[in-house]
Amino acid sequence: MLKVDGNTRLVGILGYPLEHTLSPAIHNAAFNHLNLNWCYLPLPVESMSLNKAIKGLCSIKNFVGANVTMPYKEKVLPCLDEISSCTRVIGAVNTLHMSNNKLVGYNTDGRGFLTALVQDGGFDPKGKNVLIVGAGGASRSIAVTLALSGASELKILNRTWEKADEICSLIKSNFACHIEAFDFQSDLEYFFSTVDLIINATPVGMNRGECPFPADLISRKHFVCDLIYRPLKTKLISAAKERGAKTLSGLSMLLYQGAAAFEIWTHLDSPIEVMRKALEEALGPE
Ligand SMILES: NC(=O)c1ccc[n+]([C@@H]2O[C@H](COP(=O)([O-])OP(=O)(O)OC[C@H]3O[C@@H](n4cnc5c(N)ncnc54)[C@H](OP(=O)(O)O)[C@@H]3O)[C@@H](O)[C@H]2O)c1
Repeated sequence: MLKVDGNTRLVGILGYPLEHTLSPAIHNAAFNHLNLNWCYLPLPVESMSLNKAIKGLCSIKNFVGANVTMPYKEKVLPCLDEISSCTRVIGAVNTLHMSNNKLVGYNTDGRGFLTALVQDGGFDPKGKNVLIVGAGGASRSIAVTLALSGASELKILNRTWEKADEICSLIKSNFACHIEAFDFQSDLEYFFSTVDLIINATPVGMNRGECPFPADLISRKHFVCDLIYRPLKTKLISAAKERGAKTLSGLSMLLYQGAAAFEIWTHLDSPIEVMRKALEEALGPE
């Protein structure tokens, strides 16, 4: 059991609303396992109080850092003293760390995705052609990480072409990775036939029965990742399995982005299997 006393170090998650966050379960299980006198709390903050809340947290002696979630991943940027170079390119922060009295911002989403892909999926994106469906914050973090990891070509498919094109401009101005944007009016059959890895970075699939694109575009040569973790078995994941493709659910990314934040705060290796078990228990049965 967690013991809370005057020496307990505080971490948490800033966002609004936070009723369904799984992060406290993952991190508190890890602290317990390693016998660390740390505690992870949900820190729900309304938009108008965000700056005050961050200033307040930073003035608390035992505050170490926080995760940042919707809707504040971009809004926290002006509150930071420092930002990691990769996070600056992504333009969104999901982890804060108080270091030498400075508030430093990181984005562990891309790193979490990459570790999940390699460790749990056994897929190395180096030299591969990748299709990312969706052009929001998760898509941007993953595009930057894959460009850094040597993916040979990225395609961004989004219902709003202009948002996909913004990611293309960002990648082209920072990396030597070939990238193009397209929308659902394009020749999907052709584009899908040219890629190795397909990533769903839209919320389409959170409602059971929805798929972000026609499932018959998937073949056994594809590796299919869905970032959605609730439900774990989305229609996309089921359809991809039926068509003989390898798959990875959003649970792994959620786990490893949390583990990366844990390592930034504690400078310790994260007890990944303890965190995975806590996450699965917190998610409950399908
Ligand atoms: N597993 C994890 O650890 C993890 C981490 C981060 C995010 N995620 C998941 O990844 C997904 C995307 O998150 P995000 O933060 O990138 O969200 P976001 O910034 O809101 O972006 C959502 C994207 O999905 C597209 N989209 C939304 N509804 C759509 C619909 N009905 N049909 C087609 N496209 C639609 C949007 O298109 P427009 O540009 O046209 O609006 C946008 O490009 C969410 O499901 C989130 O839960 C998972």
